[in-house]
Amino acid sequence: MELNKLLSYIIADNELHAKWLNTLSLMENTGARKISASEDPLTVTYIILKHAAEEHRHAFYLKKQIEKTGEAYCPTYSAEYLLAPAHSRYYLNQLDVDVCKYLKKELGLAGKELRFAAYLLVTYAIEVRADELYPIYQDALENAGSRVNVKSIILEEEGHLEEMLNQLKQFSPDWELHASKAVDFESRLFSNWVGALEESLLFSVGS
Ligand SMILES: [Fe+2]
Ligand SMILES: [Fe+2]
Repeated sequence: MELNKLLSYIIADNELHAKWLNTLSLMENTGARKISASEDPLTVTYIILKHAAEEHRHAFYLKKQIEKTGEAYCPTYSAEYLLAPAHSRYYLNQLDVDVCKYLKKELGLAGKELRFAAYLLVTYAIEVRADELYPIYQDALENAGSRVNVKSIILEEEGHLEEMLNQLKQFSPDWELHASKAVDFESRLFSNWVGALEESLLFSVGS
């Protein structure tokens, strides 16, 4: 199923929609915590602090949007309040593992350097995805006349992609090669995640 169809289907059902928002919130929170964990306590920059703060805000904002679905769903990130819970938790962690393996093998990085390079590549790939996914979601919300909106997230994600590009260009002259590798890893994980979402919808229809 195409993503926009999948999303219209989810938005049409308040409980599924609440779980979708909660799932996105979980993934934003995972991303935010990863950025915070990769921060060097001495050399952390304005851009990294801003980025972490905004990703934490996205997690909170999406959680708050759940109120607009009409019922008090999804108090926690426990599996029963998520769509495709296993894949949704696995996606970002696995991307991190794939990128770290690549950086160790190809660039021989370790320790601090590895942490910083992984932050750059993982976050870049996620920002590319966010810049595609949130506008599709926003369109589906508007088509459905939903009160939920993610425009403020779209605006910040666009800024993040630009900031990641600037940081990547400073990181390596071969940044495009490394970045495209990270995007490949991400694309595979994303399509598995969408497949798992579809399955979880079939399951919810059948139950
Ligand atoms: Fe975000
Ligand atoms: Fe972002």
